[in-house]
Amino acid sequence: METILLIHGPNLNNLGKRDPTQYGSKTLADIESLVSAEAQKMGFTLKPFQSNHEGALIDFLQQESGSARGIIINPGALTHYSYALHDALVDTQRPVVEVHLSDIASREEWRRNSVISPACIAQISGKKDAGYIEALALLSTHAKK
Ligand code: DQA
Repeated sequence: METILLIHGPNLNNLGKRDPTQYGSKTLADIESLVSAEAQKMGFTLKPFQSNHEGALIDFLQQESGSARGIIINPGALTHYSYALHDALVDTQRPVVEVHLSDIASREEWRRNSVISPACIAQISGKKDAGYIEALALLSTHAKK
């Protein structure tokens, strides 16, 4: 089965304790098992990873993307300033979908810009955990092209 990477950046290990009005009430483990079940239905194996460290996320991408069909990433606050993560995503040469649980366009000014987006085929924002299922569907369609 082809693999999809599901990557979460800083503070997303705390989902379930973070503001539920922005991020919903599911834990990261809840989201990972939900997305994993859906991925299996679509014929993919999900490989999840979370880190609070930019370098660890980049190391994971460098090690795992070669054998992956696509990538779903919620980079947390790194979204707004990590050019290093942007470059690592471009270097994978894989289709990437950027997901945000909250609607980054309707929050603080500094959250509105994503430096990651140019490396992605789509950005899904503000749909809570349903955004990850939409991301999977996008990657599945992309994989069939
Ligand atoms: C987030 C939005 C980011 O601005 C924030 O720093 C996060 C989570 C989201 O999922 O809505 O940690 O990526």
